[in-house]
Amino acid sequence: MIHIPKAEYSRRRKALMAQMEPNSIAILPAAAVAIRNRDVEHVYRQDSDFQYLSGFPEPQAVIVLIPGREHGEYVLFCRERNPERELWDGLRAGQEGAIRDYGADDAFPITDIDDILPGLIEGRDRVYSAMGSNPEFDRHLMDWINVIRSKAHLGAQPPNEFVALDHLLHDMRLYKSAAEVKVMREAARISAQAHIRAMQASRPGLHEFSLEAELDYEFRKGGAKMPAYGSIVAAGRNSCILHYQQNDAVLRDGDLVLIDAGCEIDCYASDITRTWPVNGKFSPEQKAIYELVLASQEAAFAQIAPNKHWNQAHEATVQVITAGLVQLGLLEGDVDQLIASEAYKTFYMHRAGHWLGMDVHDVGEYRVGGEWRVLEVGMALTVEPGIYISPDNQQVAKKWRGIGVRIEDDVVVTKQGCEILTGGVPKSVAEIEALMAAARTQAS
Ligand code: GLY
Ligand code: MN
Ligand code: MN
Repeated sequence: MIHIPKAEYSRRRKALMAQMEPNSIAILPAAAVAIRNRDVEHVYRQDSDFQYLSGFPEPQAVIVLIPGREHGEYVLFCRERNPERELWDGLRAGQEGAIRDYGADDAFPITDIDDILPGLIEGRDRVYSAMGSNPEFDRHLMDWINVIRSKAHLGAQPPNEFVALDHLLHDMRLYKSAAEVKVMREAARISAQAHIRAMQASRPGLHEFSLEAELDYEFRKGGAKMPAYGSIVAAGRNSCILHYQQNDAVLRDGDLVLIDAGCEIDCYASDITRTWPVNGKFSPEQKAIYELVLASQEAAFAQIAPNKHWNQAHEATVQVITAGLVQLGLLEGDVDQLIASEAYKTFYMHRAGHWLGMDVHDVGEYRVGGEWRVLEVGMALTVEPGIYISPDNQQVAKKWRGIGVRIEDDVVVTKQGCEILTGGVPKSVAEIEALMAAARTQAS
């Protein structure tokens, strides 16, 4: 299995600590277990920031980073070993495992945190934490601070400054290392295979969930624990609903199906959209819209390179799509004016992409100092233009209504431009039709 090597977690902690102000402490909790219903839990997914700094996969854990601490800078609070609980719920690292397998300098039972953590905070000037994202943990943190304050008359020194950790940590997460790109390539490879399998299985009369099952099969077979987000399998008019998730309609002859789905490997997401005809053959209108979206995506790729700014790729898609819609007669008027008035938004209402990483809509600022961010090597993003013609749009001829097309790929900025991670799925009309025709021949 391709995964982030242990040494990288240590490097990340050191890099974060190097950026922390002198005499400070950082505190981050693991994700809580979420109850699905009664005593059934949701599949556990570690918090991305916590995972980024530790690779520690368990709930009920807290990372504490104390740059310069003599007895170890990296302290991990985690569950104790417990043979009875482990018989029911699975193995735990325990404190020994936290040190041996996860590189902690020091580890304590999570049940002792109220006794130990105030002592670690005491005397530090600043506390870094993800304030606001976990209200329950924020309350605990204030309780620990208050323990120190209550001892001020004995000479205890509570911290004076509370700093949001996000800014430092999320900027680090925006730049992907070689190891991260390798994991993202693997997630992309498996997701590409899943889209190919769904294309091959596509037939009128099946349901959207039939294709979702094909995706899930490839995700799990490839070693992914779960999709990076709820898979969108949207046939016919459902393709015009951007975050459609019902996935239970029948696939009808003559309709398109739009699939937006990607798996997660070692907590790194992939995010692919392909749109194809359920029966394997594009109609002239479907082909026209499809090729326009594809051309806009190509134009966007050309705008992704170091020193280009974040919005250039989006602007390229808007230009191509608006001009194309005018040519097809779906918009009327001067292209520049239609762009200025945002008339294209009737058909293309979202942006061309987002940062991609441990979270599918990953962390990182899009603007710096009021300006669009300049792209740099190692930044990962999606490129996902689309055109959605509402089934209820009375302004356009009937033949266009209900066509929704999105094409989405994942890229990493390189010195020369960008590497497309998800190029393994066919994309041209000819390639898609050939793949689907071959699958039919094999099946019959
Ligand atoms: N899958 C959600 C998105 O494409 O942003
Ligand atoms: Mn996306
Ligand atoms: Mn997507």
